[in-house]
Amino acid sequence: MGMKTTNEELRARLEEDGVVLLRSFFPREPLTRLREAANRCFEAIKAGTPVPVHHRFSPQAHSVLLTALLDFGVESEAALLAPLSSDGLGDMFSGLVGDPWRCRLEHSWARKKFAPWNAPRSGYHIQDWHQDGALGARFPLEPGPVIPLANLATCWIPLNACGRDSPGLEFIRKPQPALLHFTELQDGSLRQRFSAEAFWAPTMEFGDGLVFRNDILHRTYVNGEMRSDRLSVEYRIFLEEP
Ligand SMILES: [Fe+2]
Repeated sequence: MGMKTTNEELRARLEEDGVVLLRSFFPREPLTRLREAANRCFEAIKAGTPVPVHHRFSPQAHSVLLTALLDFGVESEAALLAPLSSDGLGDMFSGLVGDPWRCRLEHSWARKKFAPWNAPRSGYHIQDWHQDGALGARFPLEPGPVIPLANLATCWIPLNACGRDSPGLEFIRKPQPALLHFTELQDGSLRQRFSAEAFWAPTMEFGDGLVFRNDILHRTYVNGEMRSDRLSVEYRIFLEEP
C-alpha cells in the first residue's frame, strides 16, 4: 500500500463503515472562496444584518442554505458545487444513492459552530445525535413501526481545521438497519447500546472532508477546551429522479 489511500480503498471503507474520512482530498482554492464567503455571511448575521427569508437562517443550528453564499462573494452555483468535482467523489455518491446522483442545493447548508465560550447565549444549540436519513420523516410519539430512511448521502467539509480546537463531528461507526426513534437518541442510551470503539470524532484539517450514509448516527463534537469556532459546508446528495 502506498502513502496515499486509493479511491477504491476509500470506497470500500465507506461501504463497510457507512462513513469515510477523506484526507487532503479537496482542492483548497474553491474551499477558500467558500470560507471567505461564509465568514462574511456569518459576520453580517452577527452584526444584525437581516437575513433574507429564502436563505433560511436557523439560529438554533446557526446555518443558512449554501446558496446564501451567492450573496457574499461566491460567483455561481457551479462555484458552490466545485468541491464535488473532486476525483473519485462521484463514484462514492453513486455507490450510496444510485446513479445518476444529484446535489440538491435546497438541502445543502453552510454552518457555523461555536467554541462554548463564544456561543450565542440564547437560541443556539449543538446538533445532537441524529441520522440524516430522517429528513422528512414523521415520527410517531412512541417507537414501533419501521420508518424508511430517505435515500440521500451527505458530504461534509469543514472550512477550517476542526475536532481539536474547534467543533467537529462525532460518529457512531456502525451501519443502522433503520431510523432510530427520537426517544432512542440520548447520548447515555446510545453509549450503552454501542461499544466504545464505535464512537469516533476525527480531527480534521482544511482540505479534509467526510462522506456518510443516511443511516449513520452523528452529532456535533464539542468540548470545553475548544477555543475556536468552526465553519463548514454540507452537501446533500440524492438520486436524480427521471
Ligand atoms: Fe446531520
